[in-house]
Amino acid sequence: MNKEIYYFSGTGNSLVVAQDLALELNGKLISIPSVMDRVSIKSEADVIGIIFPVYFAAVSGIPLIVKQFLDKLENLSTKYVFAVCTHKGGPGSTIENLREMIRNQGGDLAAGFTVQLSIPPSPLEKMRRVFLHQDLRNFDPGNKDSPQLQLKVAKWKRKLEIITNYVSNFEEGWFETPGRLWKTIMAPYNLFMRFMYSVRYKQLSEVPNLPFTELIHLADKSFKVNEKCNGCGICARVCPVRNIEVVNTTPIWLHHCENCIACFEWCPKDAIEGEIVAYERKFHHQQVKLRDMLKPNISQ
Ligand SMILES: Cc1cc2nc3c(=O)[nH]c(=O)nc-3n(C[C@H](O)[C@H](O)[C@H](O)COP(=O)(O)O)c2cc1C
Ligand code: SF4
Ligand code: SF4
Repeated sequence: MNKEIYYFSGTGNSLVVAQDLALELNGKLISIPSVMDRVSIKSEADVIGIIFPVYFAAVSGIPLIVKQFLDKLENLSTKYVFAVCTHKGGPGSTIENLREMIRNQGGDLAAGFTVQLSIPPSPLEKMRRVFLHQDLRNFDPGNKDSPQLQLKVAKWKRKLEIITNYVSNFEEGWFETPGRLWKTIMAPYNLFMRFMYSVRYKQLSEVPNLPFTELIHLADKSFKVNEKCNGCGICARVCPVRNIEVVNTTPIWLHHCENCIACFEWCPKDAIEGEIVAYERKFHHQQVKLRDMLKPNISQ
């Protein structure tokens, strides 16, 4: 049985999940950015795993690049497809939305799992940012050793075993998605969040009238570099969608951004800032090194 594990990752969580699954399932690990140059993607595998971070769960949760990847995937109908999305506490209906997208491509999602591997800023941190305009990075020099995060990592190791058994036996029907009651309770919150995203992204992109998903690409207009930048070009190399060019030692953003924050996270000089990352803390999965993030961006 051929197995292919496709993944997209900005800060390494989904990379680690994909690596662990590829190892356990004896599958081939393939980064989604590395195949996006192709017009269509015809997989020879019998089993396809799709691993990605949740972005904007109140909208759909699926990163734009993953949607584009699904559009390119062919002959899905004969395959066992499973997915794992990583998140920081609010995956919403991402798995259900993904299932719908895969159905539209003529396939079906056999199982979809969620894994929390990031900790969101506390309400106090957020309030300090909103009301006192304090930089969130000051509050968290890297929460890699926090017991809360260690618990999540340990939980993933247990879940890895469950997913491996499930997929190895080609079982179907495990979907980690909210039930009807929870969806009804969350509906007003999601509506509010969609409104807030729309307001924020209009500001970030400096464009007043475009659908939210189109504003995402343009939100990189709000990235800035500070005086610590030495023009090393790591941000350009780590960007999964080649959205940064370094011109005369200055990074320029090219407006097809995924908002994955890899450039912000992996800049060795802490030189990247701007409103787009105002609520972000520098974080990456403790197992992942910069070199792990650079290689997957090269086309296969
Ligand atoms: C633009 C953006 C939007 C996000 N939206 C959500 C969200 O709606 N819900 C959530 O739980 N996590 C959200 N996250 C957190 C990521 O899903 C989480 O940190 C994930 O594990 C990152 O995966 P990676 O390390 O593979 O990039 C968001 C992160 C980014 C960068
Ligand atoms: S990685 Fe940081 S220091 Fe290097 S060019 Fe980019 S912004 Fe400048
Ligand atoms: S520019 Fe930065 S945030 Fe945007 S896709 Fe590239 S690495 Fe991610």
